Amino acid sequence: MFKVNEDYLKLPGSYLFSTIGKKVAAFTAANPDKSIIRLGIGDVTQPLAPAIIDALHSAVDEMAQAETFHGYAPDLGYEFLRNAMAKHDYQDRGCDVRADEIFISDGAKGDSGNIQEIFARDNKIAVCDPVYPVYVDTNVMAGRTGIYDKETETWSDVIYMPCTKETNFAPELPKETPDIIYLCFPNNPTGSTVTKGQLQEWVDYANKVGAVIIYDAAYEAYISEEDVPHTIYECEGARTCAIELRSFSKNAGFTGVRLGATVIPKDIKQGDVTLHSLWARRHGTKYNGAPYIVQKAGEAVYSEAGRAQLKKQVAYYMKNAKVIYEGLKEAGYSVSGGINAPYIWLETPKGMTSWEFFDYLLDHANVVGTPGSGFGPSGEGYFRLTAFGSYENTVAAIERIKKL
Ligand SMILES: Cc1ncc(COP(=O)(O)O)c(C=O)c1O
Repeated sequence: MFKVNEDYLKLPGSYLFSTIGKKVAAFTAANPDKSIIRLGIGDVTQPLAPAIIDALHSAVDEMAQAETFHGYAPDLGYEFLRNAMAKHDYQDRGCDVRADEIFISDGAKGDSGNIQEIFARDNKIAVCDPVYPVYVDTNVMAGRTGIYDKETETWSDVIYMPCTKETNFAPELPKETPDIIYLCFPNNPTGSTVTKGQLQEWVDYANKVGAVIIYDAAYEAYISEEDVPHTIYECEGARTCAIELRSFSKNAGFTGVRLGATVIPKDIKQGDVTLHSLWARRHGTKYNGAPYIVQKAGEAVYSEAGRAQLKKQVAYYMKNAKVIYEGLKEAGYSVSGGINAPYIWLETPKGMTSWEFFDYLLDHANVVGTPGSGFGPSGEGYFRLTAFGSYENTVAAIERIKKL
């Protein structure tokens, strides 16, 4: 008789976005005449840039000829893409990351969920609170998080690092020593960032206590301020303690195309064992690579034309971020984020809970956002809006919110 993985049964409730989806579906069924504007889920809306479409077309044509056809990709991904990433994302920034330390994948969600597999089960994880839920839930599935407390909505074996207004939504070094530290900057959901000096403190701390930082750089393309690091490898010593996750979803609109990468420097070791070798083994055993045509599209992200077009695309979303940020401020809300990230984090008004504000906004403005409490207990009393809608919808949504 088979037995299920009981760790899955420990997961509380349903995934945040399915709960939102159900609420929106019920509202739409009851109010078919209302036009809903969705500024909730972090999915992009702009079409792929022309340079990427051209690369996809020509890669598809290659697949039609025996001479240029491509089957399985190399384990780590195609060299043309790893070289482009190593150069543009790292070496041009003065960071020591080599192409053979980059593992191409089909996105950062899978990698951020799977990376915990190469660590022992009794490692203790530390996460920001609020947090991108994947980091915690995948550790729950792996049986690493202990017992769930419904009252506090926390796990007994997880170290939570509250990110509050008082700290500009950045975490402070934890009192209890973790083995694995998840950081994400620019941050989802708060839109906050840390300076290079602040990130350096984390790298120094991780090296001192022997922890690994899993650094999610999915929103790197949205950084507009000078002193904000674009990669953790800008920090001294990161090669011995930091894994970096990269995504093509938000910088290039690949949410439906699927492409990402994980960087594991060969200097992260326990004794003689490198994390690089474990991830290489995992990749080789469990993963058969992102499609050739998608990796060619990824290469085009780094072409001159691609870079110019994507700069405009990011600017389009950041114009929306400004509309939301300034509109909400004008309307008297307390807001943060939106400067180096496509997320705006606002305090719910009149002491409403996050979900009360969700319902209020859906009912009265027909605007969908994301309740902060869905990202962790410190998210209670907050709400996330995203800049990934169309400009017209974003302006309309803010006009509606201003009238409330
Ligand atoms: C912090 C963070 N990491 C990773 C992802 C997922 O990225 P991908 O589309 O590459 O799987 C998201 C998507 O919203 C995210 O917010």
